[in-house]
Amino acid sequence: MFRLTQHLLDDQRALYGADSMHMFDALSGLPEQCIRAWELGMALTVSARAEIRQVMVTGLGGSAIGGDLLRIFAGKRLPVPVTVNRDYVLPKFVGPQTLLFATSYSGNTEETLSAYREAREKGAQIIALTTGGKLKAMAEKDGVPVITVPGGISPRAATGYLFLPTLAVLQKLGLLEPLDEQVAELSRHLQAMREQLKPETPLAENRAKQVAINFFQRIPVIWGASGTSEVVAQRWKGQVNENAKAPAYWNVFPELNHNELVGFQKPEELLRQLYIVILRDTQDHPRVQKRYAITREIMGGAVAGMDEIEATGNGDLARLYSLIYPGDYASVYLALLYGIDPGPVKVIDQLKARLAEQ
Ligand code: PA5
Repeated sequence: MFRLTQHLLDDQRALYGADSMHMFDALSGLPEQCIRAWELGMALTVSARAEIRQVMVTGLGGSAIGGDLLRIFAGKRLPVPVTVNRDYVLPKFVGPQTLLFATSYSGNTEETLSAYREAREKGAQIIALTTGGKLKAMAEKDGVPVITVPGGISPRAATGYLFLPTLAVLQKLGLLEPLDEQVAELSRHLQAMREQLKPETPLAENRAKQVAINFFQRIPVIWGASGTSEVVAQRWKGQVNENAKAPAYWNVFPELNHNELVGFQKPEELLRQLYIVILRDTQDHPRVQKRYAITREIMGGAVAGMDEIEATGNGDLARLYSLIYPGDYASVYLALLYGIDPGPVKVIDQLKARLAEQ
């Protein structure tokens, strides 16, 4: 089995040949996407109508994860709360002092359109972030600023487009310090990383391929840390779901030490089908860093295996994406190991189509 999987992951023709929606190309384009996304955000003319007391991103799935990245990144820097709304309705506090990004890659997600309408009624300061669709049409009609990002890739391959423009807007409003240097470092760092992660780099030197092998025929469990890699753990889970069409689970330190860790005793046979990856960062709370080794020791041999991935880079942006990028690639390699085309998400399309009929 190992020889077979190794052979497949180093067979570039097979890898590219099974990737009908060019997910590898989209992954490879991420460093340039980040620069373009930043420029698009910086090009928007914005001003605040009233003092901003909250920042909110409303969106779903691939469009919401950009909001989570903003929550983690800007949460440490802004004097006001940053929250993500994944629902048709908005919390009661939303009002004229809320800066609300309505984010939908397609522009047609019904929950986001509903939240947008409610935000209009409540007088929130809205910015639409989309490729087009109904969201763009409504926003233009309402005189709401729109950041239009390029279409043609799947929402989950567009995290640059769905995140960096929100940072640019916050910088332009004077809520964030200048981030141009961090964005440039992010792009450079991703360029270096894609050389290590791309299909042409053999399994022996390719961390993403190694992770895919470890996840193959097992249930991936990804652990991050609150305030740093938590959103990345969630992202890895979503990427395994949507690209490899397989289940995956995620949790965060220190919370998981207070419940999930206890649950690795029964049923033994099923537990041996789990493979755990811990996402680490030297920025994690010092007490959390002590928990990793102790947790691994307590886990003993309960699961099939455990691995760790360490963030690299200087700025927080580069560090966040240095953990995202290997997971994105690994989930595509995992899809191909399963003989699955990573691009199409027919189940989501079917569900949206059936809902539209009702
Ligand atoms: O990855 C996907 O395709 C989904 O998670 C979508 O992002 C989600 O269904 C929302 O669609 P959109 O991003 O177009 O608003």
